[in-house]
Amino acid sequence: MITEILSPKQTGNHNLKNYEEQYNSYEWDQAEQQFSWHTTGLVNMAYEAIDRHADLGKGSNVALYYSDQNRKENYTFQEMKEFSNKAGNVLRNIGVGKGDRVFIFMPRTPELYFVLLGAIKLGAIVGPLFEAFMEGAVKDRLEDSSAKVIITTPDLIGRVPVDELPDLQKIVLVGSSVEEDAQTVDFYRHFETATTTLEIEWVDREDGMILHYTSGSTGKPKGVLHVHNAMVQHYETAKWVLDLKENDIYWCTADPGWVTGTSYGVFAPWLVGVSNVIRGGRFSPDDWYQTIEDHQVTVWYSAPTAFRMLMGAGNDVFNNYNLSSLRHVLSVGEPLNPEVVRWGMEVMKLRIHDTWWMTETGAQLICNYPSMEIKPGSMGKPIPGVEAAIVDDKGNKLPPNRMGNLAIKKGWPSMMRAIWNRPEKYESYFLSGDWYVSGDSAYMDEDGYFWFQGRVDDVIMTAGERVGPFEIESKLVEHPAVAEAGVIGKPDPVRGEIIKAFISLRDGYAPSEELQEEIRSFVKKGLAAHAAPREMEFKDSLPKTRSGKIMRRVLKAWELDLPTGDLSTMED
Ligand code: WTA
Repeated sequence: MITEILSPKQTGNHNLKNYEEQYNSYEWDQAEQQFSWHTTGLVNMAYEAIDRHADLGKGSNVALYYSDQNRKENYTFQEMKEFSNKAGNVLRNIGVGKGDRVFIFMPRTPELYFVLLGAIKLGAIVGPLFEAFMEGAVKDRLEDSSAKVIITTPDLIGRVPVDELPDLQKIVLVGSSVEEDAQTVDFYRHFETATTTLEIEWVDREDGMILHYTSGSTGKPKGVLHVHNAMVQHYETAKWVLDLKENDIYWCTADPGWVTGTSYGVFAPWLVGVSNVIRGGRFSPDDWYQTIEDHQVTVWYSAPTAFRMLMGAGNDVFNNYNLSSLRHVLSVGEPLNPEVVRWGMEVMKLRIHDTWWMTETGAQLICNYPSMEIKPGSMGKPIPGVEAAIVDDKGNKLPPNRMGNLAIKKGWPSMMRAIWNRPEKYESYFLSGDWYVSGDSAYMDEDGYFWFQGRVDDVIMTAGERVGPFEIESKLVEHPAVAEAGVIGKPDPVRGEIIKAFISLRDGYAPSEELQEEIRSFVKKGLAAHAAPREMEFKDSLPKTRSGKIMRRVLKAWELDLPTGDLSTMED
């Protein structure tokens, strides 16, 4: 097979100049020396990301360019330092301290970033929640982590089942005309009068910092715990992979409810002190291009679904904007189709650089670098300091071009440190103690490039968001008409996958369009809009194992007209 190769720009003055050389000689403590804690011993991510730049003479540089339909605001590093200090003081005054779980459930606004950084300055563990979550999803996460405080808005508080969360002590409302009571705190009222200085809680590198809930194929969403030490890798990948330099203007389109929106929407760009663009509101091709043009974005990190939607909007829309500021474009979250890379070359005249990683890995692991040749369709090569391999189910390395489990040698700085409350689940990620097994299948070619093949489990990636079929199935069977439900991801040209539900009805219910619509909105209201099945099919019964587990692989085979494989465990 002849592989297409895209060469790097000859003129590129890239941070990572010679991948092979760097890969062969790199040790992580080269990065550690960049941090103030290397000499002071005082660790805090928010200090390194914000205050350090303000304290070292870069306080007047813009840290945040914020815009949405109604607001357009800039904040310097000095202002970010002061506003996050104020937010920290508000939280400290209501009892937030080291290790407390503080959830943030609000749309992207500057305040979200003030409270996120403020809580981290107190040594709290922040749980960011996507604003589209509905009551059931919010409850599962707050309950599992025994959250002490939630910071939300008057619009969203209705989705927080306060009475069912005995550990929840305080609700901080960010909005106008908030009525305070013993539990409810008016954010702006206290923020206004809070002082701009704050005593930072210095923590250990291994102390908890952020808790991202994510889906697997079984069970409820799990809380993936990351620690302050992750900054070592955020910092290095900001340089090598994002290729950020002092005067860059960087935009990551992800919401902080997902790991990309924190690791690469907050920490990485600010650790290297660049200006970070945050855009609130929903996706539209015009708004996105406008954002790049308005802010003269130079480095842009987004997802295949978004690129496909932009591609679908047509080159005429693209041609209405001046995107000549763009220098470097990256993608994450799902397979980046070669077709999309070709579109990027055609319209932007730039290569789109794929990056591979997961919530659990905390930061990028396998990437395409600006100085490296790209093979469209490949995720690239491991970052310096990381060993990646394809292993069999026992943990033996496989030779090139053999498909198997994509695995990473344990010990990279941003690796998750726990699954909240579930040590056995955490252990289950590691094969023979040493290899972290990702749940993705892939192969490595003879040049060391990794190629994604699919998920080993039933996790669905829809429009760049990771959803677990079990969570949706559990919600579906709560509907009075639903007896059983099996959920799969069905390939889709724009969204990567869409959610399809197979449903058997209880006695007394008959399939109809109205019932479908009702069930769909039941999931939307109970979980989240993006978790609602776009397609539904009613069946008299669903394929199950003898122990009663729905066989999703059989549903998938039916759907895609594939052989159903071994059916020996299926009930008669
Ligand atoms: C998938 C997002 C193909 C993969 C940061 C992984 C990818 C899951 C890529 C993690 C890529 C991520 N090519 N697939 N470049 N990047 N994935 O936890 O299946 O939301 O296991 O983290 O997304 O999704 P998560």
